Amino acid sequence: MNLVVVSNRVARGKANEPMTGGLAAALLPVVEKSGAVWVGSSGRVRDGAQTEPIAEIEQIGEGTLALLDLPAAHYAGYYEGFANSALWPALHSRSDLISVSHDDYRSYREVNAFVARALLRFQKPDTLFWIQDYHFLSLGAELRTLGVKSPIGFFLHTPWPARCVIDSVPNHRDLVTAMLAYDLIGFQTEDDRENFTACIRTDLGLQVRDGVVRSLHGRTRLAVFPIGIDADKFAQQAAKAVAHPDVSRLRRSLNGEKLAIGVDRLDYSKGLVNRVNAFDRMWTMHPSLLRAASLLQIATPSRESIEAYGNLQSEVARLVSEVNGRHGEVDWTPIRYLNKGYGQGVLAGLYRSAQVGVVTPLHDGMNLVAKEYVAAQSPVDPGVLVLSKFAGAANELDAALLVNPHDIDGMARTIATALSMPLNERRMRYEIMMTKLRRHSIQQWFADFVETLRDGDAAEAEIDPLPAAPAGFLAGRMLSPGARYH
Ligand code: F6P
Repeated sequence: MNLVVVSNRVARGKANEPMTGGLAAALLPVVEKSGAVWVGSSGRVRDGAQTEPIAEIEQIGEGTLALLDLPAAHYAGYYEGFANSALWPALHSRSDLISVSHDDYRSYREVNAFVARALLRFQKPDTLFWIQDYHFLSLGAELRTLGVKSPIGFFLHTPWPARCVIDSVPNHRDLVTAMLAYDLIGFQTEDDRENFTACIRTDLGLQVRDGVVRSLHGRTRLAVFPIGIDADKFAQQAAKAVAHPDVSRLRRSLNGEKLAIGVDRLDYSKGLVNRVNAFDRMWTMHPSLLRAASLLQIATPSRESIEAYGNLQSEVARLVSEVNGRHGEVDWTPIRYLNKGYGQGVLAGLYRSAQVGVVTPLHDGMNLVAKEYVAAQSPVDPGVLVLSKFAGAANELDAALLVNPHDIDGMARTIATALSMPLNERRMRYEIMMTKLRRHSIQQWFADFVETLRDGDAAEAEIDPLPAAPAGFLAGRMLSPGARYH
């Protein structure tokens, strides 16, 4: 089997290179092991009609990375415009932040069509295409227009919102229709799948039966595949990373003080303003925690040319400095606030050094930081995860302290509780969560999706035979039963 994975952002990564995204960091190890081809943006753009869209090809483990220079004329409209100023706010239920032009939509469709053309060179009789995320909702439909008959799957890393929210995106009906060109659409949670089902029922008048919808494009299976991490590998990395100079410096600087950690892209979906307000409230409500507990907040700048992100950056920086001004002392800073990215090799050690992990997005597809924080803990003295109930991860990590990120007082109280939780309770919660993380690993996620896509193909073959897929690594090494589709 020839697997071609497509995402806008790719990782070229070494453990110590900063990674901007959950998706890229999560896919890297599985692509490296699987022998798949991973196609994505090179981060550069090119003018004019390109005869050769692939700018670079390199080997990553047993896999291959193919990087595309995207068309200069359409890049801004595609990435900053439609993908991140219309779809992203809508998918995270922030219709108030949607800003979009019809030109942006045209550029989005153009870039999807461009990538589809570039993918043709990877097509073989036994190819499976697996497209990732909201940048490429219409890529499957473009591949079909080019005559591609291979199975095409799609996984959405973000939430899919309630119908009234997605309705605020211009052309949403067009896009949802295009999505039905996929044979399999995977979601992070059951809620996302249900919201999508409601959307196609009301907008397109189509019914979903036994997880399958039939449209003019054929059959599309809708299924839930919560993305995971390699928990044991991350735990080993964390144990080693405590020797990293940045991590030892942090530990030395604490002088017995307890530490809470937050690590996020600087994005309005991450709930940073509410989180800083919650710490402010906590120190006001519990003065005994002044000097006794501080916050390390890493907020990696993201999508900086988009106004909403620039505004957020200024707002969080101002708020942090107000809180530090209010509660700080000549020799104590309540919030250490860093606007840079760290590689996983360092992050793992920072997580292990913190007694509390605060992951409090207003809405998040999964949030792998929550999973990584748990995996990084020392089994004999684990920290406590404070987790938003609106992160996809809350479905599995229900042994965390779950909070409503809009309730500042509630969060302040819960963080204080986490800071003083007794060891036996911390251990019990950690064990429950680690068991789940081990069960739903990234390898399992990858294999479940590919197997479901391939088996859907086999079921269809009874009606309309296709060439049989030769047994490759996916049949032997990585696949296992148990796809969770509904
Ligand atoms: O689905 C969301 C996602 O792809 C994440 O995996 C990642 O955190 C983020 O978006 C990356 O965004 P960007 O590529 O714009 O930095």
